[in-house]
Order: sequence, then C-alpha cells, then structure tokens
Amino acid sequence: MQADDPSLQVAQWFREAESVVILTGAGMSAESGIPTFRDAQNGLWSQFDPLRLASAAAYRDDKALVWGWYVWRMAMVRQAQPHAGHRALAQLAALKPGMTVVTQNVDDLHERAGSADAIHLHGNLFASRCFACARPAGDVGIPTCAVSEPTLRLPPPRCTHCDGHIRPGVVWFGEPLPETSWQQAVERAHGCDLLLAVGTSGVVYPAASLPGIARARGARVVEINPVATDLSCKADAVWRTTAGEGLSKLFAALTTE
Ligand code: APR
Repeated sequence: MQADDPSLQVAQWFREAESVVILTGAGMSAESGIPTFRDAQNGLWSQFDPLRLASAAAYRDDKALVWGWYVWRMAMVRQAQPHAGHRALAQLAALKPGMTVVTQNVDDLHERAGSADAIHLHGNLFASRCFACARPAGDVGIPTCAVSEPTLRLPPPRCTHCDGHIRPGVVWFGEPLPETSWQQAVERAHGCDLLLAVGTSGVVYPAASLPGIARARGARVVEINPVATDLSCKADAVWRTTAGEGLSKLFAALTTE
C-alpha cells in the first residue's frame, strides 16, 4: 500500500480499540448518487439553496415547495443503493462488537446495508409527521416519477388526526436534535478509543463536536474524506480517499493476513 496510505495504521488502531465510533456525513451517501448538502444541487433544484429549504421558516413560507423537495429526495433515496462502503461498515461491526454508527444522514442506506442500529442525529427522511400535532404520518406515498419528472411544488398531505400539514421527519436548521439520539452519540464518543469521521465537512454543530469530544477523552480520530475539512487539523490521521474505497480497504487490511 502506498506510503501515504494510512490504511495499515488505521487497521492497527482499529484492532487495538475496544470501542469504535463511525461518524458519517453526506459524503457517505455521495457514492450512492445522493448529492451532498454543499454540492451544487442538480437539475430542477439547482436554483435553491438546500440550507434554506431545510428549515421550518421555509416550510411555513411555501409548504408545497419544501414538500416537493423532500419528495424528490425520498424518491432519490428509494432508487439509490448502498455502496461498498456501507457494506464494509456492517462487516467491520461484525469484527468489533459494540461498534456504533452515528450518522448525520437522513437516508436509510446504512440500515439497508446492515447497520441496523445507526444513530440518526438529524432524523429520518421517511419518518414524516404532522407539523401541527407531531403525530407520525406513516407511509405518505412517493410518486415513482418524482425523480425523473420532479415536481417543484407538491402540496403536503394532511394529518388524518388534526388535518394539519405533514412535514418530513428530519431535523431542520434551528431545531433541536432528538435528545435520546444525541445523548447516545455523546456517550459513545466519550467512551470510544477510535472515531472515524467519514464524509463530513465538520461544519454543522453539535454533530461536528463529536470528534473533539472523543479526542479529549484520549481517542484517536481519523478523517476519511477526499478533501480537507474543519476536522482535518483535529485528526490523528487524515485519509484522503472516498468512503467506499477507504472503508473497503480498511476491512481488507483487517481480514487479509
Ligand atoms: N467519500 C467521502 N467523503 C466525501 C465523498 C466521498 N465519496 N464525497 C464527498 N465527500 C465529502 C465532502 O468533501 C464534504 O467534506 O463529504 C462532505 C460532505 O459535507 P456536507 O455536504 O457539508 O455534509 P455533512 O457534513 O453531512 O453536513 C452536515 O449539515 O446540511 C446539513 O443536516 C445537513 O446532515 C447535514 C449536516
């Protein structure tokens, strides 16, 4: 393996670790075809800033526009497949009981690849609920044409209980993270010996504080990302590769004698 390839070092740290946390961001889903938040949005949505659409204020301003964007994203995730990196994470967990995946992503690609207990800090795209009474909305029905023929505005469905408007089950900017998920993530970060930050720009808090929390308690932090981020200078090793390649190589290094 190339001299600049830290896979052997990371594999050694993985072997030595008693407790491992994997923090993933939008870059983990990129190789499944899901654009990251700070990538230019493609097509119909290129005219909109995702960071503006992902807010309660935007939903109040234009429910149909925000709901149309989320339906497009739900349909895109439904069509996407987990990649080798998602599958490698499930295999790594089999090598390291107790390994925890903490994700900022709202898709279900980790679960579909076998990481059934991933902790979702920013909610779940498919857990829609009523904006008024917060009751779960169940299956909201995603038009199969939503990706090929995205519709800019789709009026959200109404709550069967109070007739309120249905919203996506994600954490919008300015909203608190799910308390239980956040507490679990902090607890795992406190107790781990190794934290891999995979595919995150490390700019959105409090999720971005997890590597620092782990490191402050003596854990090693490794960044897996093709480009430098705000986390790079706080990592013990930076691995300039993609999630798919890096996690697959890590599993191979651990299982190839
Ligand atoms: N493999 C690994 N990393 C990748 C890949 C890849 N194939 N492709 C892109 N990346 C990296 C980018 O270099 C970038 O650093 O993934 C990172 C994605 O950063 P963001 O788009 O900022 O996503 P994220 O860090 O998850 O954002 C955190 O902010 O927008 C909100 O709620 C949203 O959960 C999101 C949060």
